[in-house]
Amino acid sequence: MATVLITGANGEIGHGLLQALAQQGGHRVVALDLHAPDDGVKSLCHRFVVGDILDVPLLRALAAEHDFDLVFHLAALLSTKSEREPTLAHQVNVNGTLNLLELAVSLARRLGRSVKFLYPSSIAVYGLPDPESKRRAGRVGEDDFLTPRTMYGINKLYCEQLGRYYALFYRQLDAETPRGRVDFRGIRFPGLISAVTVPTGGTSDFAPEMLHHAAQGQPYACFVRPDTRIPFMAMPDAVKALIGLADAPPERLSRPVYNVTSFSPAATELEARVRAAFPDWRMTYEPDLKRQAILDSWPEDTDDSAARSDWGWEPDYGLERAFDEYLLPGVRRRYGSA
Ligand code: SER
Repeated sequence: MATVLITGANGEIGHGLLQALAQQGGHRVVALDLHAPDDGVKSLCHRFVVGDILDVPLLRALAAEHDFDLVFHLAALLSTKSEREPTLAHQVNVNGTLNLLELAVSLARRLGRSVKFLYPSSIAVYGLPDPESKRRAGRVGEDDFLTPRTMYGINKLYCEQLGRYYALFYRQLDAETPRGRVDFRGIRFPGLISAVTVPTGGTSDFAPEMLHHAAQGQPYACFVRPDTRIPFMAMPDAVKALIGLADAPPERLSRPVYNVTSFSPAATELEARVRAAFPDWRMTYEPDLKRQAILDSWPEDTDDSAARSDWGWEPDYGLERAFDEYLLPGVRRRYGSA
């Protein structure tokens, strides 16, 4: 039995991850979230704690009660919300992550063994200067264009570095190096699309919003230009990536953070998939030029060859399969739509 802490467990990735860990078996999950669990979430957890990642005494109490082997630190404010409340974003995304890394390192040192720390980062760490450079750059590698223009992207990039520091250099001047370390593993996700939940406060939300509006028979005013292109991934693949990276033998890992990606459609291609399933759907493009500028600074695709060769990453869902076998059946089930 591995004892696992999941922060943000009631969020989009949390829902999928909890299901997958329950199916796999062998995990005792302690879940933490600001919000009370949705139906179905609580039963998948050994314990569900409603609380804040900024509450250090609460985190200390959790670490005193549970010897965590693995932490999935999912709690965060997404990019649009972070742009509206930058200081709150810094507190949650940076100070919150620092608190969790402190929990992990103190536990690792107390137990004298490593504590794995899985951290979802994002394509938001990239900052392409203009649409022409974005088009020319194509698939972006992990070390290129690391000049984000959003608070969220900056928070994520810094926390990747913080994770690397905790894994490799934490208190490097101490006279003695205790046994036990944080085994930090970061993963840069593209926009994620779930059939079960709708994200809040993200800038890639136009894709899931199209799907969930159409499935509920609601018209949708899409906030991006039709030619907008960023990478996306179906939620089961995001969960597969997190678990795959968590399970990878440490000696196979050559980097602290990996790109993962699966398909990279223009907004019009997403629209066409949704429209084919819901032909009467009404949708218009009404670009929000400020949110558009953020999307124009994110790459149109990422190079995930390191993840493929180091730990065997491979997505199960391309665009067609994601819609036909996961998203459309999932939203039809959820909303009872034809
Ligand atoms: N999907 C996120 C957002 O739009 C990026 O990681 O904020």
